[in-house]
Amino acid sequence: MKAATINFWRSQIIGLDQLIPTVHGNRPYINFDNAATTPPLKAVSQAIEELLPWYSSIHRGFGFKSQFSTDLYRQIRNYVIRFLGGDTKEYTAFFVKNTTEALNKLSYRLPRKAGSIILSTKMEHHSNDLPWRVRHRTEFVRVTKDGILDLEDLENKLRRKQVALVTLCGASNVTGLINPIYTIAEMAHYYGAQIAVDAAQLLPHHRVFLEKSGTYLDFLVFSGHKIYAPYGSGVLIGRPSIFLKGCPESLGGGTVITVSEKNFTLAPLPDREEAGTPNLIGAFALAKALKWLEENDFPLLSAYEEELTAYAFQELQKIPGLILYGPSPGAHRRVGVITFNITGLPHGLTAAALAYEGGIAVRHGCFCARPYVHHLLGLREEEILYYEALAKKGQKKDLPGMVRVSLAFFNTRQEIDWLMKTLLYIAENKDKIRTDYQINEETGEYSPLSGGETFTRKLQTLLEEHFHIEWRNA
Ligand SMILES: Cc1ncc(COP(=O)(O)O)c(C=O)c1O
Repeated sequence: MKAATINFWRSQIIGLDQLIPTVHGNRPYINFDNAATTPPLKAVSQAIEELLPWYSSIHRGFGFKSQFSTDLYRQIRNYVIRFLGGDTKEYTAFFVKNTTEALNKLSYRLPRKAGSIILSTKMEHHSNDLPWRVRHRTEFVRVTKDGILDLEDLENKLRRKQVALVTLCGASNVTGLINPIYTIAEMAHYYGAQIAVDAAQLLPHHRVFLEKSGTYLDFLVFSGHKIYAPYGSGVLIGRPSIFLKGCPESLGGGTVITVSEKNFTLAPLPDREEAGTPNLIGAFALAKALKWLEENDFPLLSAYEEELTAYAFQELQKIPGLILYGPSPGAHRRVGVITFNITGLPHGLTAAALAYEGGIAVRHGCFCARPYVHHLLGLREEEILYYEALAKKGQKKDLPGMVRVSLAFFNTRQEIDWLMKTLLYIAENKDKIRTDYQINEETGEYSPLSGGETFTRKLQTLLEEHFHIEWRNA
């Protein structure tokens, strides 16, 4: 990819030139934690600045700004459906807080049918596992030793059981593995089931369509804060039929058209599913981010990320004692999410050393996908129980996990080279790293024995500037 193109992309993101403290002095922040949350796009924050003077409440007032905001919100909803290739007559969309809220809503609103089950998978984020477990009879499709979804097991389960819904991630937040969602959609529909795709990790990297390859997705969910729009909005898009029956999980203002002492009448869709004042700013930001991706050649951004992922994977293999999880990007399609461990170092210590020595942001632990991480680590049942007992006692320091590097289109090969240099230093100086860092037994987090105090300075300034809170009183 041309340097000028990458530089242009980088210029579109807020905060990339922000220096942050490390034990070796200030350094540019390298954000390899994009799977958790991405930094904002300038275009998004600029569009919000433009909107704010016109912003007012939705569905509530008759003033010009209120009417303007209500209409804008409606248009944005339709734009999001259309961006995903959906027909606004066939799909409805609800703005929610995030993917988690979207999946909880879906699990609440999907009717429970006697004898039928929900099929989730063993590679899901807890948000696409727990809501189903607690409200429906749920079974989980197996994954291979390497973490790939076992399609044979999926089909067997579809054939033998009465499956109401298959719910799975478009891409894993642990291995980045991309699931063949359209093949699975076809399979699910063939056996009379619906399909829900958790696109929280897929949509930031690839254009997703509600209808493709002669098939369709029944439900799709994702979060704004993972697509450069951190303004508290996510989406649940779906076929409307299930939302026309029963009662939403959340009721109140906006969800009804009549209320008397004894009765109430639910509003038509989508209003009945969005209780309280909607988050226009969040919805607007999310839609603007999608628009930016579309206008900036989303397939090109995806191709660049794929190239970067292959490079990172290849380079990581050169670090002595580094264990990678999941198949290589050459062997299986994956988004830029790569997990590893350095033999002999706790994952938390590796992550801390990357942050404090190199200014590199990663995540470590189980990434809210414990069953999958335990499986990839090859933990036995008794080990899992042992670690669960430790966690329940609040002993976080020895818990199993991994380190995760997650990429976005604004990352560069140079940043990956810096990651490799820092990792090599860590891998070759394990004893020094172990003695230079201390663990907080309560939180399980590591910090350097000296130099760590500089990290609190920014927070101190912010608190004093905005809230007049003195650091010592905080
Ligand atoms: C695959 C997947 N699903 C769901 C979620 C939950 O997203 P949110 O925290 O925005 O609700 C995440 C978050 O990391 C995720 O990676």
